Amino acid sequence: MARTTEDAPPRGFRSAELGWPELHRIPHPPRRVPLAGDVLGVSPRSPVQDSMRFGHLLGPIFRRKIFGKEIVFVWGADLAADLADEARFAKHVGLGVANLRPVAGDGLFTAYNHEPNWQLAHDVLAPGFSRDAMEGYHPMMLAVTERLTDHWDREQTAGRAVDVPGDMTKLTLETIARTGFGHDFGSFERSRPHPFVNAMVGTLTYAQRLNSIPGPLAPLLLRGAARRNEADIAHLNRTVDAVVAARRPGGGDGDLLDRMLDTAHPETGERLAPENIRRQVITFLVAGHETTSGALSFALHYLALHPQVAARARAEVDRVWGATDRPGYDQVAKLRYVRRVLDEALRLWPTAPAFAREARRDTVLGDVHPMRQGAWTLVLTAMLHRDPDVWGPDAEQFDPDRFDAKAVRARPAHTFKPFGTGARACIGRQFALHEATLVLGLLLRRYELLPDPGYRLRVAERLTLMPQGLRLRLERRAPVRREASAAGGPVARAGD
Ligand code: HEM
Repeated sequence: MARTTEDAPPRGFRSAELGWPELHRIPHPPRRVPLAGDVLGVSPRSPVQDSMRFGHLLGPIFRRKIFGKEIVFVWGADLAADLADEARFAKHVGLGVANLRPVAGDGLFTAYNHEPNWQLAHDVLAPGFSRDAMEGYHPMMLAVTERLTDHWDREQTAGRAVDVPGDMTKLTLETIARTGFGHDFGSFERSRPHPFVNAMVGTLTYAQRLNSIPGPLAPLLLRGAARRNEADIAHLNRTVDAVVAARRPGGGDGDLLDRMLDTAHPETGERLAPENIRRQVITFLVAGHETTSGALSFALHYLALHPQVAARARAEVDRVWGATDRPGYDQVAKLRYVRRVLDEALRLWPTAPAFAREARRDTVLGDVHPMRQGAWTLVLTAMLHRDPDVWGPDAEQFDPDRFDAKAVRARPAHTFKPFGTGARACIGRQFALHEATLVLGLLLRRYELLPDPGYRLRVAERLTLMPQGLRLRLERRAPVRREASAAGGPVARAGD
């Protein structure tokens, strides 16, 4: 059977020797092994954290070679700012992103820049992230968070610690499924992750593993994994086909699926084809929850470790929301300090930890490194966010005040990039920020977060980042007294 572009395996990997004429000027790790390359002391399970260590050792631009594939990494703020110049650079679909093409094809995240379906889907779906659309999603986000707090109340009463990444994944999956597609995965009624989540984690992990295996040997070494990956993709497809089949015309109040099925491009009148809709639904279900779940989990980890930060954030929630059971849409953006906590967590652990840029034409990066048209590099966001020239000698420390308005204004542009850059930056940014700020506000208001004293942060990688094995104990807080906040006076808590 003929393959369509969407089924085709990732395109050839363009090694850096081809695109960087002065590659020799870029440092690489000291102990290169013939054929294997820079593999000493690294693990296929932690490519980002390994690269971060090399970054510390080798400086703002460096290269790594793994089984004949050479990649240039950039994290220095000046070079990253140069790469944000959209006139000279564009998104590069390579490495992990290209490895996801068999799953997500020319869906928004994995589309090549030249593919017509990118612009079509972008224009059709962008209104799904407008202010009005977001306001419509808000009550659903609240309802899903109430499912989480019901579950956490039960765990707390039973004296059990909560599984933070597991529960944040349930929450964010339910949120994107309901707001985008009117679908309920019933995650909170399950003791184990939904099979959709297992299939998704399987495909993300497989896409990451492909990067660290010598190309010609991949079919042999990964035969079993490739079979499981095909089963995972089939599961994702079946789930998504069922979600689409269940939709009656106009049944979603103009949600993302309605837009995909019914909306024609405002200028060309074109519509998304059914196969492309399948790709987009998978893309949104995956991109719409995995990274937000990690961001919330890291933020909760830091809040538990820094009680004085948690107290300040909680005081803000009490002051801004008072005794309102269900804060309104406009009350979320007013949680300025909570938002800073989130930004600071995304600074230290941007849950999409890198993005790739390619030269639109021959150019010179940072006036120093010549690049041929098509040459590409990976911006290591997690290191860019720790560049001491920008963030100071304490860059490794958690401090939300780095994001107060004055400090933000004082920093150069393009130094904080958790959502990528340019035309291909994250379409779901506002969605993620609204959801995560709302959830943190609701959790801070309801619980004291108690860390497990024995826990040391371990970061799991599967293209995205997640704090592994993070569990917290909870204590319920007394509710805010209604009279005090209704009277407009200082908010008192029962028992104060
Ligand atoms: C904290 C949460 C999130 C983070 C850190 C994040 C990060 C990113 C990054 C870095 C990119 C650019 C990737 C590249 O240049 O290759 C991206 C693209 C994208 N994100 Fe997000 N994202 C988040 C949440 C979301 C949500 C909630 C949605 C959907 C509801 C979403 C949907 C997408 C899509 C569709 C793209 C591709 C956009 C395009 O190329 O046109 N993301 N995201």
